[in-house]
Amino acid sequence: MKTLITARGITKHFGATKALDGVDLEIFAGEVHVLLGENGAGKSTLVKVLAGIHGHDAGTIEGHASLAVIHQELALVPELSVAENLFLNRLPRRFGFVDRAEMRRRAPELLDRVGLDVDPDAKVKDLGIAQQQMIEIARALDKNAGVLILDEPTAVLTETETDRLLQIMAQLRQNGVGLVFITHHLDEIQRIADRITVLRDGRSVGVLGPKATTRHMIELMVGRPIDEQYPRAQQRPGQPLLSIEGLTKRGVFEDITIEVHAGEVVGIAGLVGAGRTEVARAAFGVDGYDRGTVKVDGKPLRRNDVQAAIKAGLGLVPEDRKGQGLVLTATVGQNLELVTLHDRDRKRLHDIAGKLRIKGRVEQPVKELSGGNQQKVVIGKWLLADPKVLILDEPTRGVDVGAKVEIYELINRMTAQGRAVLLVSSDLPEVIGMSDRVVVMAHGRVAGELPRGATQDQVMALAVQEISA
Ligand SMILES: Nc1ncnc2c1ncn2[C@@H]1O[C@H](COP(=O)(O)OP(=O)(O)OP(=O)(O)O)[C@@H](O)[C@H]1O
Ligand SMILES: [Mg+2]
Repeated sequence: MKTLITARGITKHFGATKALDGVDLEIFAGEVHVLLGENGAGKSTLVKVLAGIHGHDAGTIEGHASLAVIHQELALVPELSVAENLFLNRLPRRFGFVDRAEMRRRAPELLDRVGLDVDPDAKVKDLGIAQQQMIEIARALDKNAGVLILDEPTAVLTETETDRLLQIMAQLRQNGVGLVFITHHLDEIQRIADRITVLRDGRSVGVLGPKATTRHMIELMVGRPIDEQYPRAQQRPGQPLLSIEGLTKRGVFEDITIEVHAGEVVGIAGLVGAGRTEVARAAFGVDGYDRGTVKVDGKPLRRNDVQAAIKAGLGLVPEDRKGQGLVLTATVGQNLELVTLHDRDRKRLHDIAGKLRIKGRVEQPVKELSGGNQQKVVIGKWLLADPKVLILDEPTRGVDVGAKVEIYELINRMTAQGRAVLLVSSDLPEVIGMSDRVVVMAHGRVAGELPRGATQDQVMALAVQEISA
């Protein structure tokens, strides 16, 4: 077995934080090597040390393979086109000028390789987050590197795109590429991993083989077993708290009617592009719509007015936390208080930070937190605001298995107090496991509704259905 990279005893501090503590890692040619660990365990830091973005305080790294990295935080330029982003920092040149013709010719090939059907001239900012992720992947693939590192690429992808990516990875493995893959989805690990290095608190606590059980993985990474993955505690539903009636935005979504009662969790499932996020944003007033009404506790909301929505008791945890959910340069504490400026309750703030097990200090800038911990801050912010109705758009994206359960318990606590939750999620086990009813959207419409206990197959059957206009 040819070894491409050997890292020994890697140690890395950020001020007083010891992010890595003597980590060993070997990457072989033709293997998929998974890095597994809780949020803040040190996975991304290890990647950045390998890539030379961060220096290290102790340890050695040997190997001559070229490296391509897909980082956890997307690094695209939103104002530029898809093609320009694909060739960012390495635009094809001819006689010293950027060769636009060459760029136009090669862009479709690259997009095709990842199965992405978008216009190369479209601006990246107009694409969904999953499509943006696929562009990052296409760009990294084109470097034909000996080692490809993928830091949580599937966090923002749905089933179909994830399948596609795992196929591409398997192909690269066959060609002798060494792959480092980070994911919190244990099922993906079981499908593709050759070896699994588990990190806990900056230390490597074990290397598992491809047959490792999820139970074993969880125990090693969390240090305790997790019994119930979806601990939904159902309530008797009360009065309607959120009523979306006939909501229509031409060309985006059509005639959406969803009612969520006090004490209820209603899920919205569907494929990318089904219009789920668009409905959530319109209901909350971020975007406008053409027809229909949104009522909170019986009171109609003014369209396109977020302040009015918040006043009426509505909250939204957006899917794009970096773009919409957080002020990265502000501290954890300041972010948690963003929507509750009138009610500075320090004790509750620490209580929520503790319940969510946010790894980081309240005084620390959010940008210094690991990706999953940033996500927990966005959720914590809205839990502190204590809205009557909370819309959660992909709330556990990038969150480790232990912290997911904490978030589900907080959802249970909200509904036990008579609040309502609308849960938009591409994670099928999650949306099925935590919802009292699941609304399935397809092509901008409600394709059907399923009661608690529905199967993944039933949800998918509705999600892929063609709806005649
Ligand atoms: N630039 C930084 N400044 C200060 N601390 C940092 C910085 N980057 C990372 N850390 C800290 O290092 C630790 C490890 O973070 P890292 O991002 O490597 O975690 P991770 O395993 O990738 O987690 P996640 O699953 O949430 O992405 C965390 O405590 C984090 O707060
Ligand atoms: Mg990370």
